[in-house]
Amino acid sequence: MSWFVRPAEPADAEALVALARAVGSEPGGWLLTTSDWRSAADERRYLKAIRRFPHAAVYVAETDEGKLVGRLSVSRDQNPSSSHVADLGLMVAADWRRQGIGRALLDAAVDWARGAGVRKLELHVFPHNEAAMKLYEEFGFEREGYRKQHYRRSTGDYVDAILMAHAVPPSH
Ligand SMILES: CC(C)(COP(=O)(O)OP(=O)(O)OC[C@H]1O[C@@H](n2cnc3c(N)ncnc32)[C@H](O)[C@@H]1OP(=O)(O)O)[C@@H](O)C(=O)NCCC(=O)NCCS
Repeated sequence: MSWFVRPAEPADAEALVALARAVGSEPGGWLLTTSDWRSAADERRYLKAIRRFPHAAVYVAETDEGKLVGRLSVSRDQNPSSSHVADLGLMVAADWRRQGIGRALLDAAVDWARGAGVRKLELHVFPHNEAAMKLYEEFGFEREGYRKQHYRRSTGDYVDAILMAHAVPPSH
């Protein structure tokens, strides 16, 4: 089955919340949020708000049957001194991994970054998430730091995170 990447629309909210809850509740603990991802109403509001907002974007991967199987969000740093940096988050549905969707969503983020004047993409990944780190490193992200107990999960546990970043190559 094939799939394609496109910008998210407010009507995607419910499916995206279901995707995030499914990925978040995997035993691997890949995401900070588990079942407490934002509500569909909040997701819809966010997707509506960013339609005309040049500082953030959400992309989805959709199958030819209309199922949403990937989500990437990217958001520019609010501080004027680092507004050339944007932070991203990524997830792909378990049944759809290892088909290039993660890489294609990162390509979309790089295209968005170029258009938005963003020169650097960054993200945090948990040290046990080898699949994600492999993808990011192969894509060109480099480790910039190890952040001890940087996040607190909703369960109350503090978790370490690796900071990775990718210089956005100029367009040809
Ligand atoms: C990490 C994640 C987004 C990767 O998405 P994906 O669509 O499977 O990635 P791709 O198919 O584009 O993989 C591209 C390359 O990354 C590497 N890679 C991806 N998953 C891997 C894995 N499980 N083991 C080893 N390498 C892996 C491979 O080099 C792969 O290329 P190949 O398949 O030709 O060998 C996906 O596993 C996921 O959503 N995981 C749960 C949520 C998560 O961890 N999000 C990131 C939080 S920081």
